Amino acid sequence: MWPTDRLQTLFGIEHPVVQAPMAGASTPAMAVAVANAGGLGSLGCAMMSAEQLRAAAAEVAAGTNGAVNFNFFVHEEPDLGGHDPAAMRAALAPFYAAYGLGEPAAPKVGAPAFDDAMLEVLLSCAPKVASFHFGLPSQRAVDELKRAGVKLIGNATNVAEARTLEAGGMDAIVAQGAEAGGHRGAFIGPAHENDMGTMALVPLVVDAVKIPVIAAGGIFDGRGVAAALMLGASGAQIGSVFLRADESSAPALHKQVLADTPDNATKLTRLFTGRPARSIRNRLVRELSAHEGDAAPFPTQRAAIAPLAKAAATRGSADFMQLWSGQAGLRAEAAPSARIFRRICDEALALLA
Ligand SMILES: Cc1cc2nc3c(=O)[nH]c(=O)nc-3n(C[C@H](O)[C@H](O)[C@H](O)COP(=O)(O)O)c2cc1C
Repeated sequence: MWPTDRLQTLFGIEHPVVQAPMAGASTPAMAVAVANAGGLGSLGCAMMSAEQLRAAAAEVAAGTNGAVNFNFFVHEEPDLGGHDPAAMRAALAPFYAAYGLGEPAAPKVGAPAFDDAMLEVLLSCAPKVASFHFGLPSQRAVDELKRAGVKLIGNATNVAEARTLEAGGMDAIVAQGAEAGGHRGAFIGPAHENDMGTMALVPLVVDAVKIPVIAAGGIFDGRGVAAALMLGASGAQIGSVFLRADESSAPALHKQVLADTPDNATKLTRLFTGRPARSIRNRLVRELSAHEGDAAPFPTQRAAIAPLAKAAATRGSADFMQLWSGQAGLRAEAAPSARIFRRICDEALALLA
């Protein structure tokens, strides 16, 4: 038996384990599999168009009556006026030249933040749960989603953010330690200085807020879930372990690198998108480490790297690809998502008994 039922009651789920939203890797099939196994499945919708969101929501609705969480980025759109791209362009030029790509691409907004138009589309999809990365959505979004009965999750990387999310109307908080794969969801203080680990962050956040806390970052088996509950969390969110799952849409090269990776292979880097995100160290991360501070503001840096990543991938190389992975990404399992999910829950329940 689980020692707490707060998340189960909030989301109408059987097990307090969340399959993390992962834009580019989580799929409707993955979220459906986990929801049907009694967990909270999640879909990273940050890079989706309105059409893609509608199609994904239809696939989810056809596959499960269970709880699925739709996740969006709510970052501030950057003003590129104050950014000088010269240093990054000079650093990227030799790599572009080696691939015959000409001048390095200029930074530009590729993934707009969650806005009123997307809110309308989301509401029409009748989601049970929605979550947000990089801060709070607009007050209007919070009000309308709550009126529609949608449960809301925010992401905190420090105590100040957790308090802000609770005051802003979130129903639960993901406390995301720096071990986590993908972007730090930081929004108070310089993002690259928000690097608290899961072990310290979770109990500090639990003590600071009344709403349920979901621990995330570096959790890959039942030991991690049980430990998160001992730290006072009401559940755990797990991402990287699902990256090689049958239903994962991570690129084959990404899956291959994960399968071959040793421990201590990841780094928080701004080089791919402009915001700190944990990736496996590849050639870009190693050779441009002196240029972390030259990255264009999130998410515009992505446009400068994308042509290189694509050209290298076409030649079978992951040298410039964003290889998001948590510190425990080497334990990513090539198996059906439901089996991975059930193994983790069974291990945790055995330990907690
Ligand atoms: C490939 C990948 C993509 C991610 N994309 C998102 C995202 O779109 N939205 C989000 O809130 N978190 C995203 N994250 C972070 C996860 O939701 C979660 O916090 C993290 O995976 C937990 O740590 P772990 O990877 O050590 O399990 C992503 C993580 C990975 C590995």
